[in-house]
This record gives sequence, C-alpha cells and structure tokens, in this order.
Amino acid sequence: MRKAQQHAIWGRRGTFILAATGSAVGLGNIWKFPYITGENGGGAFVVMYLLCICLIGLPVLVAEIMLGRRGRASPILAMQRVARESNSSKLWSLIGWSGVLAGFIILSYYSVIAGWTLEYVTTAARGGFEGFDGVAANNTFTALQGDISTLVQWQTAFLCMTALIIMFGVTRGLETAVRILMPLLFCLLVVLLGYAAYAGDFAAGFNFLFKFRFDQLSLEGLSLALGHAFFTLSLSMGAIMAYGSYMPHNQSILKTAATVGVLDTAIALLAGLVIFPIVFANPGIEPGAGPGLMFVSLPIVFGAMPLGEVFGTVFFLLVTLAAWSSTISLLEPAVAYLTERFRFHRVAANLLIIFCAWLLGLTTVFSLNRWQDLSLVAGMTPFDLSTFITEQVLLPLGALATAIYVGWFMKKRPLRRELALDSSRWFVRWLTVLKYVSPMLIAVVFVLGIVDKFAG
Ligand code: PHE
Repeated sequence: MRKAQQHAIWGRRGTFILAATGSAVGLGNIWKFPYITGENGGGAFVVMYLLCICLIGLPVLVAEIMLGRRGRASPILAMQRVARESNSSKLWSLIGWSGVLAGFIILSYYSVIAGWTLEYVTTAARGGFEGFDGVAANNTFTALQGDISTLVQWQTAFLCMTALIIMFGVTRGLETAVRILMPLLFCLLVVLLGYAAYAGDFAAGFNFLFKFRFDQLSLEGLSLALGHAFFTLSLSMGAIMAYGSYMPHNQSILKTAATVGVLDTAIALLAGLVIFPIVFANPGIEPGAGPGLMFVSLPIVFGAMPLGEVFGTVFFLLVTLAAWSSTISLLEPAVAYLTERFRFHRVAANLLIIFCAWLLGLTTVFSLNRWQDLSLVAGMTPFDLSTFITEQVLLPLGALATAIYVGWFMKKRPLRRELALDSSRWFVRWLTVLKYVSPMLIAVVFVLGIVDKFAG
C-alpha cells in the first residue's frame, strides 16, 4: 500500500508519449546517428538500423513499457514484482540492475558531449561561426577537444542542469519542458532542411543516406546498428521501464510505442538529411569525420545563412535541451531505486549519482586529449570502452533478457491484461516477434559483433 501511494501516475494523458519521446530524442538522433552512418558507409547502415528498430527495438520497447507498468516501481523492484507474480526466479531483476549500470555509464559520457553543445551555444551567440569553412570548423572543434578546462566546465554545467530539473520532480519539470521543446526542435530541423536543400548538395546527401550498397555491409556496422537502435529508443536502461511505471492503465501500449518509435526515427533521418548535403557541399569535411561531424558541418551553415547567429544559438540550445530531457530519464531509475529501497531523500540520491557520473565522465574528457593514445583493451580509450560496454554489451544483453523473459517466462494472463487495449491480432504478432525473431537476431548480432571486435 505504501508503495502504491508513493508511486505517482502521470498527470495528463499524453504525458507518457511526451516523456518517452523526450527520453528517446537526444544526442543519439542528432549527433550520433549521422556520424555513425557516415563512418559506416551510409545507405547500407541506414537499412540495418531501420531493420533493427522494427524487428528488435519496437518489440522490446513494448515489453519494457509493459514491465514498468505491471511492476509500478523503479526497474529493479518492478522486475522483482513481475517475476514474483509469474513465479519466476528473482534473478530476472538483474535486467533492472544491468539497466541502472548502463544508464549510469551512459550518463557519464553523454554529459561530456552535451557539454560540447553548450560551448557551441555560446560560440554561435557571439557570432563565432561567421564565414566558417570546412577548415576553420575543423580547427575550432579540434581545439575544443584539447581544452580540458572548458570541457570540464561545460560537463559540470550540464550535470547541474540535470540535477536541477530532477529536484523539481519529474512530472512538473519534464512535462512543461518536453511539451514546448520537442515541437520547436522539430520545426527548426525542418527550417534547416530547407536551407540544406537550397545551399547544400542535397542529391549527394540523399543518395548517401538512402542508396543501398551491398559492399558496405559489415559486421561492425551491423553490431553498431543494433546497439544504436537500443540507445536511441532509450532501451535496456530502465529509463522506459521507469517511465512506464507512471503510465495510466487506460492507454494502449502498442500505439504509444509505435508513436515514440516513429517520432524518434523521423528526427534521426531528418538530422541526417540536414547534415549530409552540407558535408558534400564543403570540401573540408568527410562524411566519416567521426564524433565531430555535427560540430563541423552545422557551424558552416550558421556562419553563412542569414540570421545564422540566431538560428545557430537556438539550434544548439535545443539540442542541449533534447539531451537534457534524455539525461533526466537516465538518472530517474537509479534515483527512484535509492529512494524506494534505502529511503534516500530524492535530492541526496540525485546529487550522489550526479557526482559519481561526473567523476567517471572525467575519463571521457581525458580520452579526448591526454589519453587519446591510451589503449585499455583492443585499442579502446576509456571513452571508447564506455560506449562499447554499454552499447555493444549491456544494452543488447539487457534487451535479450527482456525479450526472453517476456516471451517465454512471464505468465500470459498479466501480459494480456497489460495489453488489453490492443487487438488480439497485434498482440499475437508482437509476441511472436518478441519470442522468436528478436532474441535470435540479438544473439547472433551480439556474438558476431564481439568476435569481430576482438578478432579484428
Ligand atoms: N535515447 C537517447 C538519445 O538518443 C539517449 C538515452 C539513452 C536517453 C538511454 C535515455 C536513456 O540521445
């Protein structure tokens, strides 16, 4: 009873969709998707990514929302409750643990990248992109990577922003933020798309993104596409499960998940369609430029377009805010756990986790400069290792366990109950994919990806 009283439910009907979209849309869509697509050859990668979203991401998204709502608690406790109800082993709560761990590591490096966007907000506002070409844009980005104190300053600022909103409580702070910011970000991307079509090489960009070439298929690309599908939908981190636990019963889970998936994918593709035409129109930038891709291509646009200062400032600000609504959901599972299990005060739990994430984040900062050549395992810097452990190990394994648990071990009654608002035809389709297709694909891609990494 105490738990039931403690656990709030979202105020308004659309809030779950907004919050989940706020979590899903972030740096993953605007910064990461274009750059890993660029590094992995374009069209072939996009096809693998879309397949991973449809056959694995969406079914697991439905499963996670369902588990959260059924358990009505933070991911670890929710998994314990759901497992108890189906008489299955308590060990399934490891899904929750692995999610909290992955979320924490991701938070540590995510905040460093979000810090770059904050630095770019100030540069744009000063008119610092004026007359930028490919070389100038590259130089500015490289200089930032070497500037440890600036990197740490913005990383700290970003984490403080995150702490602030969590202190005001998720629903109030987040609801307002997401309701206004997400549509604004979308509109701005459409404006930039118009500009990219007019001033960039749109045909080349479009071809690069959507032309499928067999010779570009690679194991590494496939494994990255899978990891990114989880990352971009915020899966296997407890984030969606935590939000699902606040979702009212009168909402259809399948429809909600589909909406979130479509919005998230649309924003990623839109970002790609803005960035690549610009890349191909500017000789100084390569599509495979890596993590700096967004930070070198867009400043050129803002430096050349009318009112570029305003557009540039607003754009980087919106990206920061999109990242912000994602980090909130990364923190929520761990904070909810500490408050429920150890009766931590929300603020104390928050500050503790943020501080630890800040410390771990410093290893990412140093990986960009001093430790650039430091190889921990298989040629990876601490930053590479953090992304590898999360996106290519913890996220796929967490999703695999989720799919197997829901598909094979959870009792059908509670399952059907949670999805009672959805037609039985769609229910059966979803369950079949989740039971057979998703786990098999995840397992195969996971094993091949690991072999490829360490054999290569
Ligand atoms: N989905 C977010 C993005 O694409 C990242 C994220 C991962 C947020 C996990 C929350 C939880 O940027």
